[in-house]
Amino acid sequence: MKITVQQGSAQSFPVEALVVNLFEGVTSPGGATGAVDKALNGRISALIAAGDIRGKLGEVTVLYPEGGVAAKRVIVVGLGKQEEFGLEAIRHAAGAAAQKIRSLGLTSFATVVHGSGAGGIAPEDAAQALVEGSILSLYTFTRHKTVVEEPITPIEEMVLIEFDAGKIPAMQAGARAGQVIAESAAYVRDLVNEPANITTPAALAGKAQAMAQELGLRCQVLEKADMESMGMGALLAVSRGSDEPPKLIVLEYEPDEGLPTIALVGKALTFDSGGISLKPSEDMHKMKGDMAGGAAVMGVLRAAAVLRLPFHLVGIIPATENMPSGKATKPGDIVTSLSGKTIEIQNTDAEGRLILADALTYAGRFQPNAIVDLATLTGACVVALGNITTGLLSTDDRLASQLEAAGQRSGERVWRLPLFKEYGEQLKSDVADLCNVGGRPAGAITAAYFLSQFVGEFPWAHLDIAGTYWTDKPAKPYQSKGATGVGVRLLMEWLRRWEGA
Ligand code: BES
Ligand code: ZN
Ligand code: ZN
Repeated sequence: MKITVQQGSAQSFPVEALVVNLFEGVTSPGGATGAVDKALNGRISALIAAGDIRGKLGEVTVLYPEGGVAAKRVIVVGLGKQEEFGLEAIRHAAGAAAQKIRSLGLTSFATVVHGSGAGGIAPEDAAQALVEGSILSLYTFTRHKTVVEEPITPIEEMVLIEFDAGKIPAMQAGARAGQVIAESAAYVRDLVNEPANITTPAALAGKAQAMAQELGLRCQVLEKADMESMGMGALLAVSRGSDEPPKLIVLEYEPDEGLPTIALVGKALTFDSGGISLKPSEDMHKMKGDMAGGAAVMGVLRAAAVLRLPFHLVGIIPATENMPSGKATKPGDIVTSLSGKTIEIQNTDAEGRLILADALTYAGRFQPNAIVDLATLTGACVVALGNITTGLLSTDDRLASQLEAAGQRSGERVWRLPLFKEYGEQLKSDVADLCNVGGRPAGAITAAYFLSQFVGEFPWAHLDIAGTYWTDKPAKPYQSKGATGVGVRLLMEWLRRWEGA
């Protein structure tokens, strides 16, 4: 989609559709909506008076002006209550309007930048949220459908209109960031929605290599033989039961020397059957998305490289299947991880922490200023936080509070759980240094505690996205059924406001 910011007054743009907005409870609109209302001889305020337009968040009303304004259609979108207004409401309203415009079969539209006037949001932030909400709400995953019931004509062009020329450069910057970030999140949704027979570890490595080629990143793929010679016994134990060879994908973006190094580690089980500790068959298909952490790392690398962020980013993605077979790791097996620590594998379904253990140890080789990992790690995190909030566990208060702030702003909210050392008791093994499971209590915490044993001295945060990587019931227009693309908006917000570790 082509996105531009143009200076002018809303009522004079000759477009297929013009989007203006309204706060709930406002009876005589001001700003651009007021100007359009006047040009339409008060039709908008008349509809408000009649109770037909109420300004509820995401409410969409289409008007067909007969003269007065240059646009063929005027679309009034509700912003909700002014006291509840923020970036999230902008994404929601923009998404509702964009979906309506697409359902009308239109291929271009213009919109005022919600929130940048009476809403009191900085023009750059408002434009970013507007573009994010629009692009993500138009996301579809139809590549495997040979028959489409309602064919969709994609929207090709979106124009952001601003009267005040002084705000235009900021809006252009925000719109560009919003576009890159949303398109990267859509890229992640595609990766996660793709089934496991197509996205094998080798195929994922191929995608990473293609992305690296396109964006000028370094990409190194460690093969099974490399893992064997290095001693990545934990990662190898998970892949044993599968016919697909494991891959450790290392993507590097380094635009300059001397930049802070951030390691992003992403769990990439291209399929998690549970292994010998086989999962129940209900919902097992969703385990094609057990590589959502790795996909998010790829999405962040993509967005950061396109926007030329001043970091040395290292993306580390251990990719494998977890399958039962005659060769598979068995409950009770003991393996030696890259760190040298031995692990008793009591449950082969707790495999994410095993592949991450070796990947986190490997991350230490880059002497990072911070390590953040993303993983669909535990069902326990879904029990604790549902599908609304990502779990955050960290050994570093500063890093944790930066991620919390980024969660608020990006709309990808996180909630911190404790990592008190007493939880470590649950991971004691009678026969090895550590056991890979800690029993039912505090399952999200003991999983993170396990990871912490492989991080070394670096500031580290873990994001458990088991509840947030997927949605069956989208609650907002910019969400779609299936993969959410979680992580890209959150980590891009964190990096763009980075204040050091
Ligand atoms: N990939 C799963 C966690 C998961 C569950 C992700 C639901 C998304 C939705 C992980 O590998 C797993 O199976 N974890 C086990 C750990 C347990 C055996 C200690 C779990 O959470 O049940
Ligand atoms: Zn599992
Ligand atoms: Zn898993």
